[in-house]
Amino acid sequence: MGICDGRVVIVTGAGRGLGRAHALAFAAEGAKVVVNDLGVGLDGRPGADSPAAQVVEEIRAAGGEAVAHGGDVATADGAASLVATAVDAYGRLDALVNNAGFLRDRMLVNLDEDDWDAVMRVHVKGHFLPLKHAAAYWRAASKAGREVTARVVNTTSGAGLLGSVGQGNYAAAKAGIVGLTLVASAELARYGVQVNAIAPAARTRMTEEVFGDLDAAPEDVSPLVVWLGSAASAGVTGRVFEAEGGRITVMEGWHAGPTVRREGRWSPAESGEATLKLLADARTPGAVYGAG
Ligand SMILES: NC(=O)c1ccc[n+]([C@@H]2O[C@H](COP(=O)([O-])OP(=O)(O)OC[C@H]3O[C@@H](n4cnc5c(N)ncnc54)[C@H](O)[C@@H]3O)[C@@H](O)[C@H]2O)c1
Repeated sequence: MGICDGRVVIVTGAGRGLGRAHALAFAAEGAKVVVNDLGVGLDGRPGADSPAAQVVEEIRAAGGEAVAHGGDVATADGAASLVATAVDAYGRLDALVNNAGFLRDRMLVNLDEDDWDAVMRVHVKGHFLPLKHAAAYWRAASKAGREVTARVVNTTSGAGLLGSVGQGNYAAAKAGIVGLTLVASAELARYGVQVNAIAPAARTRMTEEVFGDLDAAPEDVSPLVVWLGSAASAGVTGRVFEAEGGRITVMEGWHAGPTVRREGRWSPAESGEATLKLLADARTPGAVYGAG
């Protein structure tokens, strides 16, 4: 008995790295998995291989059930056909793990518009479109009177939560995914859909150049993702978790800190004086990755 027996799960970017580990872990817990991967290079440019089919073979060899989907999750056709693949192959969809993505790291002064657009596109649009198509499926199921116990796990990053030097495009995209997660959690609760995000850290091709010493494995992150994707995580939604090695951390979001109010409008100098007093009482933000 697995905690995902009978569930149908999509994992995007599951041909390698974290997505592959999530797909294998879901299958090991009894899920039928749609393994999506476009097979692109580390910078998102066309790659030579088609890793989704290999992961499907691995799952089948271990006695599990899986189908491959090779579309681009950041296109309407790719996202629509992804959800259709799950429903055509297995008759239902229970969880979506948005994970696909790539990097184009540059300092802001050297960051080309193309590199900005490509990274925003794959992460923000590549989360939004599969989420939209899956949500439409679950809303229809809910309105048809079927019981929906659906889960979405999005993938943000410490870069999106705290900032990261040399990753302006990626940090903006990953912060956008947190906003999308909060809205989706609130909008979709009425249809039986829970939406959370993880900020993982693991040794993959994406991190081995930047953090050569990272020894946490992608497989260390997957147990939390599988639990969030299962019916067992009932009541948990709109949350962000960091996961690295054996560590799981609830990331606490923005809260109103020290505040001041006065009758009438401040002058700029008065507002500055008041703001400096507030900052003296406020928590210091966490350090930006790579700063100083
Ligand atoms: N590895 C880490 O420590 C780390 C840290 C923070 C966040 N993340 C995030 O985790 C996710 C997975 O990263 P990874 O380290 O496993 O990287 P990876 O490069 O090993 O795997 C990403 C996969 O996504 C696929 N992909 C890219 N664009 C796609 C598209 N448009 N459609 C379908 N598939 C596409 C790639 O072909 C690749 O197989 C990413 O969103 C990444 O930003 C990773």
